Amino acid sequence: MNATTHTGKTGQARAAPGVHIEQRDGPDLSNPGYMSPVPRLTELLARNLGVSKTAAARLIEAGRVCDTSGSIFADRRTLLDGDQGDGATPQDVPPVVMVDGKTVTLWSRALILLHKPVGVVTALRDPLHLTAYDLISEAPLFHELRAVGRLDLETSGLLLWTTEGALVQRLTHPKRRVPRTYQAALARPFRPFQGDLVLDDGHRPEVADLRPISRGEAHPGLIIPPAASTLATVTIVGGAYHEVRRLFAALGSHVLGLCRTSFGDFTLPPELPAGDWRRLLIPIPAAR
Ligand code: URA
Repeated sequence: MNATTHTGKTGQARAAPGVHIEQRDGPDLSNPGYMSPVPRLTELLARNLGVSKTAAARLIEAGRVCDTSGSIFADRRTLLDGDQGDGATPQDVPPVVMVDGKTVTLWSRALILLHKPVGVVTALRDPLHLTAYDLISEAPLFHELRAVGRLDLETSGLLLWTTEGALVQRLTHPKRRVPRTYQAALARPFRPFQGDLVLDDGHRPEVADLRPISRGEAHPGLIIPPAASTLATVTIVGGAYHEVRRLFAALGSHVLGLCRTSFGDFTLPPELPAGDWRRLLIPIPAAR
């Protein structure tokens, strides 16, 4: 290992030209005009290793953390500028350090798209089933990720996870009216939808689109059991408990297979196998 040592750029935070800086708490980081101090090495290290700040500080003080050229970080208050090119944001090009010779990327925030398989529960912990959270244990900032909404145990498809509470709000608050699209394999044809439907608990689903589809239009993520006679796509605005299953029941059919193929602007990549995930860039909210 190179014997040179970083003294650390402590004190006043600064913004070099073309360098974006951010911090964990505070104003909305998705606002591109917002500039704030880069988190200290200790904080980013703690968050990305899933350890306490004290434990991260000890790693630095023990000389176990260095940059990619081998220079040891000797000061736990070190600021990291990252290495952003023109127009890149910190989530595009996060700083990278080495801890005990292993590369650790220092993400500040994360958005993950998981292809949830059937039989996996949307939860952080479950005594009986594998959880969707278990499937993303290698994802950036795993310890801080929270699911954006839920999918039933027997539903597969697109499930988002993020560290950003504001993004969860943007995607799930009923006032935002974010559409979700599902494909369903049905036991029998469904009655034509007349525009107003009341479910068993009085809920009125807001259906933006509902139509049969051919097998050729089926997403690879939709499991089609042999007993299925009809395939359909449905887009609903908002989300209520078992909404799609209850919707098709109210239309005289029965769901045998269900897959969420999109959520707002996010779509389930056809080539992403069930159980796999991808990191996405966090979208900048549209100006109001
Ligand atoms: N509607 C359902 O019935 N199940 C889901 O998992 C999602 C929407």
